[in-house]
Amino acid sequence: MTCVALIPAAGSGSRLAGPQPKQYASLAGRPMLWHAVAAVCRPPVETVFVVLAPGDTGYRSCDWSVFAGKIAPLYCGGETRRDSVYNGLVAAMTAVNADDWVLVHDAARPCLPAADLERLYAECRHDEIGGILALPVAETVKRAGKDEAGAQRVAGTEDRAQLWLAQTPQMFRAALLAEALGKAKSSITDEASAIEQMGLRPRLVAGSHENFKVTYIEDLAIAESILARRAA
Ligand code: C5P
Repeated sequence: MTCVALIPAAGSGSRLAGPQPKQYASLAGRPMLWHAVAAVCRPPVETVFVVLAPGDTGYRSCDWSVFAGKIAPLYCGGETRRDSVYNGLVAAMTAVNADDWVLVHDAARPCLPAADLERLYAECRHDEIGGILALPVAETVKRAGKDEAGAQRVAGTEDRAQLWLAQTPQMFRAALLAEALGKAKSSITDEASAIEQMGLRPRLVAGSHENFKVTYIEDLAIAESILARRAA
């Protein structure tokens, strides 16, 4: 059975406020996207599909030679993450079988440890639905609501024992994922949400803090230090 990865990399990453889209922000001398590809371009993954904005110019200016024969750019990104993943999956379907596993991974998670990828695959490969990496919430979580003056106030406290933070990769069979994303709203922020909306319950697999999502400018230094420690 085949296993492929799909990385949506067609976002603008406006919260990072850099001169280029977040996926091309420089990290340890390479674009962040390069590290995200490297993290998933290892067994059992056979091919990594990278979904780019139709007008992307950054991809061509990077050196992808180390992944030769295993990486396939698709210039069909959409307005939202869901649109980019769905468009990419539809385009990849010519090379992917209905039962193949698809691991969707954020370009913005360049520090995914190899052990996390292996654990996700090992725990989900015989699952009927598939699953995601996630972390149990450590902090106390407050729900916010505005008062009459417009100030944010605590509206309630969630039971954190039931809460996990979703990460990527998120691993589902190609046909199920395509069907779920085809029915899902564009506003969903991960693939599991689409699967859940079909009444299915993806497996939760414990991830790690190193697989955090680079979002703000200060996150780049944290990601660099993780990658530098591994390279040393
Ligand atoms: O913006 P955010 O960090 O949530 O994006 C998560 C992933 O989805 C990133 O890899 C980003 O490039 C991708 N994305 C996309 N197409 C969009 C929006 C986000 O491929 N329209």
